[in-house]
Order: sequence, then C-alpha cells, then structure tokens
Amino acid sequence: MKPQKLFIVILGAVFFSLAALPSIQQTQRITSGNEPYLPSVTYDYMNVDSPLFLINNPVSNTQYSPSPPSGGGGPAVNNRGATLGRVLFYDTQLSKNRTVSCASCHDSKLGFADKVDFSEGFDGDVTDRNSLGIVNAKFGRFSGFLWDRRANGMDDQIFLALESSIEMGLSKDTMVARLEATSFYPELFEDAFGSRQITAEKAANAITQFVISIVSFQSKYDHGRESVQQISDAFPNFTTEENLGKSLFLTHCSSCHTSDLFVMPSPQNNGLDLNYADKGVGEQTNNPGDYGMFAAASLRNIALTAPYMHDGRFETLEEVIEHYNSGVKNHPNLGAALRQNSLPNPSVPPRQLNLTQTQKNAMVAFLKTLTDTVPAHELKWSDPFDPANAPNGLSGIHNRLPMDVYPNPAQNVARVRFTNSEHQLFNIRVLDQNGRMISHDQTRLDNYQLNMGDLPAGVYMVEVFNDRQRQVEKLILK
Ligand code: HEC
Ligand code: HEC
Repeated sequence: MKPQKLFIVILGAVFFSLAALPSIQQTQRITSGNEPYLPSVTYDYMNVDSPLFLINNPVSNTQYSPSPPSGGGGPAVNNRGATLGRVLFYDTQLSKNRTVSCASCHDSKLGFADKVDFSEGFDGDVTDRNSLGIVNAKFGRFSGFLWDRRANGMDDQIFLALESSIEMGLSKDTMVARLEATSFYPELFEDAFGSRQITAEKAANAITQFVISIVSFQSKYDHGRESVQQISDAFPNFTTEENLGKSLFLTHCSSCHTSDLFVMPSPQNNGLDLNYADKGVGEQTNNPGDYGMFAAASLRNIALTAPYMHDGRFETLEEVIEHYNSGVKNHPNLGAALRQNSLPNPSVPPRQLNLTQTQKNAMVAFLKTLTDTVPAHELKWSDPFDPANAPNGLSGIHNRLPMDVYPNPAQNVARVRFTNSEHQLFNIRVLDQNGRMISHDQTRLDNYQLNMGDLPAGVYMVEVFNDRQRQVEKLILK
C-alpha cells in the first residue's frame, strides 16, 4: 500500500471511530450521593455463634437456609451476598416511586418492625396486617413466613412485598433495570454472585442472606440463660420480679411461644375475637377450621415492636397480658392452652388466669428482659446510605482497589503495594482512629513507602484513592 493510501485509511478509521463514539450507549448513572458507604473489608455475616441453649433445642435450632439462586451448593450466607442484601434492604429505589424501602416498615430501632398498626406503603395505602419484627427470623421456621405463614420461603415473601400494590409496587423487570443503571450494583452483584448479571432472584436471595443474618443473643435473658441448666431455673441476673414473670410465662404461655426464642411452630388461635374481620389462615383456605389462626413471630425484642397482634390492636404489653388474663374469647378454634377443657366447648368459658397486679407486672418485666439493643447499633445491619454509618467515619465507595499495606503490624516504616495499578496517580492519606488526617501524599509508584517514624503506637487507617477507586486498610503501629 502506498504511504498516501495508508494515511487515508488511518484517517478514515480515526474518523469512523470518532463518529461511532456518540452512539455508544452511556448507562445512566445515579448521582454519587446515592452510593452506599461500604467498608473496604466486608463485615462478618457468616460466623454467627448461636448460644448452645439454642442449638440444643430442636425448635429453635430449625434454621431457615435459602438455596443459592444458581442452585449450586455453598453456604446459605456469605459476607458479600449479605452486603449486597444490606444495600438492597435500605434502598428506596426498590419501590415504584422511590419512597419506600424494606427498612421503612422494618426499622432497626424497633426490633426491625414498625410503630404503627398498619404500615404505609409507597403510595400512602396501608398494609392489611401489622409489620413483623424480623430479628431471628431464621430460627424456628417450620411453616414459613408471615402472620398466616403463607410464604413458604423468604424469597417468596420478598417478592410479595416488592410486587405488592400496597407495599412497594415494583415489577421484577423494573427492579433489574433500575439496579443495572446504577454505578454500584453491577459490581456488588459480581462480588456476591461472581457475575455482573443482575436478576430479581439473585436480588431476593441477597436480601434473604442479609435478613437471616440479623440475629440477637445479647439480651438480659440470654445472659441469664447462659448461666443455668434449665430454662426454669432462677436466673442469677434477674430480679425476683423478672424470675416470677418467667415462671408465670412458662406456665401460661410457653406451650404456644416455645423454646428460648419464643417462636410458634404453627398458627394458633388466641381468642382475640369471636368473629375475625381478618380470618388469618382462613383467608387463604376458606376452611372454618382455619379461621382466626395466626402465627406470631419470635417474642424476642417484643418490647420494641409495639403495637401488638396481627392488627396492632394492643398498644402496650400490659394490654396483651390483660387479654390473656381476662379477655380471651371462646372461639371454636381457641388453642387448648387457653381453654379450661381440652376439647372445644361453646358452653365452657375460656380459662381466666386471675393474675394479681404483681403477677401481671412481673410478666411484663419478664418480657422486657427479651430486649436486645445490639441489633439497632450494629453497623453491619445499619443503613449504608446514611453517612453517619460510613465505616471509620470515612465516606465514599467507588471501586475497590487491589492494594495492601505491609508489614502489618509495622514499626516506623510500612509499604503500600499495588497490583495492576498501571501507574495511575493515587492519593495516599494516613488517618488516625478518629478520622483525623496525619499525612497526605500522591504517587504513581507500584510500591510506596510510608514513613510512620515518630507517630505513637496504635491503629491507623491508610486510605488510597483517586477519582474512581478507593480502599482503606487498617495499619497497626507497634
Ligand atoms: C409497607 C411496609 C412493608 C415493606 C415496604 C416491607 N414489609 Fe416486610 N412486612 C410488612 C408487614 C405488614 C408484614 C406482615 C405481613 C403479613 O403477615 O401479612 C411483613 C412481614 C415480613 C417478613 C416476615 C417475618 C416473619 O417472621 O414471618 C419478612 C421476612 C419481611 N417482611 C421482610 C421484608 C423485606 C426483605 C422487605 C423489602 C423487600 C419488606 N419486608 C418490605 C411490611 C412491609
Ligand atoms: C394458644 C396459644 C397461645 C398462648 C397460650 C399464648 N399465646 Fe400469645 N399469641 C398467640 C397467637 C396465635 C398470637 C397472634 C395472634 C394474632 O395476632 O391474631 C399471639 C400473640 C402474642 C403477642 C403479640 C406478638 C406480636 O408480635 O404482636 C404477645 C406479646 C403474646 N402473644 C404474649 C403471650 C403471653 C404473655 C402469653 C401468656 C400469658 C401468651 N402469649 C399465650 C398464641 C398464644
């Protein structure tokens, strides 16, 4: 080819590639303000140390575990799957008009339940039933989820919420399209499932991983339970009143609210009404034998999840106790524990507990020992879109960067080593534990030396970033 012709060909190629540029589809980016603040090293969602008293009990040790969407094996929960689930759980993009997230009706400060009888969905309509607390939702699962246990698996339940015309109003396709259009979800899906491909099933699986990671074993009850053999032994850390409440609970309540998690293996009737406006399981089956049958969730954190019952009819635990004390109605399906006779008999009134005020107070005091405030304060279960929950007080996620800091712990000198940095320019900042900046430098080197010479021993953060990527590593100085 003559040089002249070659020149024209090259010119043509350049021209065509330039002309082709505008037609390359730019995916729409959600503003960086909507990016979650995530830790550079994932929080631990996998290693849950269930107390022995839970593991040894066949009821509380029945654990719900979702199968991965690919159908493959592997652990039901992994840290990156649950991290993705956390972001989805708190993301209002999961509702039609972007106003409501799962957390709107499952508030970490309220035992992951809601404070109203019926929760408001995306369009201002309210749910048919009271929101359920989802702490320890993985345990004691015999018959599925929801007040009538109509959802077999948690993924089913998640699609019910997402696609519900009251709760979130979002189709699977719209959800996938929205997530694909963000700057961060493709990467989070890749982290969780090994590919950037986003599907509704993977999203539901990740949310499930997050939800079943939310467990609570740090209540006053747990601390007492650990130090005795039997649930019925007096707990050394309980007051006399709380121990009295516990024994009354074990006598009158624990046949339905069973095990140390106080869960209900199957729906029951507790005599709220003679004629139920909401027939519970009977709404699905139309079978009179199922009318008024409901399944309460775990009574763990019950003091945080008011109001109570499927319709939120009781504002306080005192009202709940008074119901069992004097208010139980003689419904044909009333549970045996609440009847005087073992067989239903319309002419024999339900059992009256005839509790004294001291006993009623004791039962309320006992129920309050089931409160665990840890879940509300754990960063790993908190809203990742809230800058207040940014790890170490630092902000921004961007793409994680392959780099490490060594030796660690270090003395005087540490080094930052990059893999595949392609000699881009990076900022390197050293911060102390309170996020105060100690030093700031820039480098294009693959291996950069940090002089920590005269800094006091302690824990520092090494933050490496440019406008696209960011990574923070903890560095211990001896
Ligand atoms: C508008 C409020 C609202 C939103 C939004 C919402 N929920 Fe719920 N959630 C409820 C109500 C109400 C119930 C109980 C409904 C029933 O039993 O019929 C419930 C029940 C549940 C349960 C069952 C708990 C159990 O022990 O059986 C789980 C799990 C749950 N929600 C998770 C989620 C997740 C995950 C999301 C987001 C995808 C979500 N919810 C969105 C209100 C909401
Ligand atoms: C026969 C079984 C049965 C017995 C016995 C029983 N309950 Fe219940 N409990 C239920 C059912 C069923 C529900 C849910 C009813 C509904 O919402 O329609 C419930 C709901 C509750 C709730 C509200 C849960 C929530 O999330 O809103 C509390 C609190 C409670 N029971 C405490 C007690 C106490 C305390 C006792 C003993 C005095 C007791 N229960 C005895 C079956 C029983």
